[in-house]
Amino acid sequence: MKLCMIGTGYVGLVSGVCFADLGNDVICVDKDINKINNLKKSIIPIYEPGLDELVNKNYKAGRLKFSTNLSQAIEKSSIIFICVGTPTKKNKYEADLSQVYSVANQISKNIKSFKIIINKSTVPVTTGDKVEKIISSKVKKNLFSVVSNPEFLREGEAIRDFIYPDRVIIGTSNKKSNKILKNLYLPLISKGAKYINTSRRGAELIKYASNAFLATKITFINELANLCEKLDINIEDVSIGIGTDKRIGGRFLRAGPAYGGSCFPKDTRALVDTANKSKTFLSLVNSVIDSNNKRTEILLKRIKSILKNKIKNRKITFLGVTFKANTDDMRESSSLKMIPYLSKKGAKILYYDPTGQKDEFNKFKNVKFKNNIKDACEKSDLIVIHTEWNEFKLIDLKKIVKNKNFIVYDMRNIYSPEKMKKQNIKYFGIGR
Ligand code: UGA
Repeated sequence: MKLCMIGTGYVGLVSGVCFADLGNDVICVDKDINKINNLKKSIIPIYEPGLDELVNKNYKAGRLKFSTNLSQAIEKSSIIFICVGTPTKKNKYEADLSQVYSVANQISKNIKSFKIIINKSTVPVTTGDKVEKIISSKVKKNLFSVVSNPEFLREGEAIRDFIYPDRVIIGTSNKKSNKILKNLYLPLISKGAKYINTSRRGAELIKYASNAFLATKITFINELANLCEKLDINIEDVSIGIGTDKRIGGRFLRAGPAYGGSCFPKDTRALVDTANKSKTFLSLVNSVIDSNNKRTEILLKRIKSILKNKIKNRKITFLGVTFKANTDDMRESSSLKMIPYLSKKGAKILYYDPTGQKDEFNKFKNVKFKNNIKDACEKSDLIVIHTEWNEFKLIDLKKIVKNKNFIVYDMRNIYSPEKMKKQNIKYFGIGR
């Protein structure tokens, strides 16, 4: 099939490359000419394991093309995916849909034969209706169909999540589009993915509901972790104990720092905004947002108590600063609050991240990047495991840290407290 992806961010690029790998002809379009020129040279704008190989392979095979020419891409494709960003508006909960509407406008000027227009961007309920309205102001209704097809890709696992999804959600009441899209996704359905056809609004809500539910699960376990710390219970036991009940499920029950990234914080806010506009109060999602916002303060308090309230001039090392492992994404990472706070209190902070130095910390004079674990840790008073990269799991801390009384605060529970005790390392985890 001939597809075009408008927007080569996470969603557009990963989906485009994976669709090409399934044998489709895909044009990835972006208005950023540098990005497109780089992609043609296999320079990938994001850190995503396995993506560069897949881009290379499919570009060379001619199934994958990169372009800045939107009208040409639309003309050549029968299925058009809108994959642009929908960030939160400044100081609001509302999603900024300007990019989606601008793309819809451009699509409306370029339709000459039947096209399926798919919204893959995460958009509030009724956005599909508005996109349809924009296009129908210039194009006859029988020449296009607007469908919602949300994505469920995790950064760092995006290719696997694309190839082996639990489900494919297609929000349309148009039978022709439904048939074509079922065919497009057939290779994934035949591997076990459930194909679910819903209303367009239903599909739009499923996306937000999924992220809000997962954010709720994490927040729930994070709050229980606070309780476990008071009652000397291991949160890991609780996660396993409740997660083995199939009605609950064990995934997304890892306690840790506040959830971050480009999706959960933004999408929970947008869901609340959508509900407010429909005069519906989502008390639970509101509480999740509040609780997550307060989580960083709780962990900072813990750091203060671990350091017996003496932060000034203490050497604190952060291992990993992105919002989670296997990504270079800093968006809404809790380190963005923790590091500046500790730096303002006079701590000397060194950090190491496998994805390199982060511009966000350049303005803080007592925050420095080290390009290896040893240099970051050797003089440390406190080592904070902020993200769960595999390379942090096997560090021989006793060997690399020279300061005998160093402390470890493992915010991802990657180490065994028993092993730490045996090695005489002062160790604190989350909820245990
Ligand atoms: C999330 C969803 O998992 C994807 O299904 C969805 O497609 C994506 O948002 C999106 O809407 O585009 P992502 O933000 O890449 O994916 O990352 P997750 O792996 O879901 O992690 C989000 C946050 O939750 C991270 O800060 C992570 O550390 C935290 N988390 C996750 C926990 O604290 N505990 C867990 O058990 C799981």
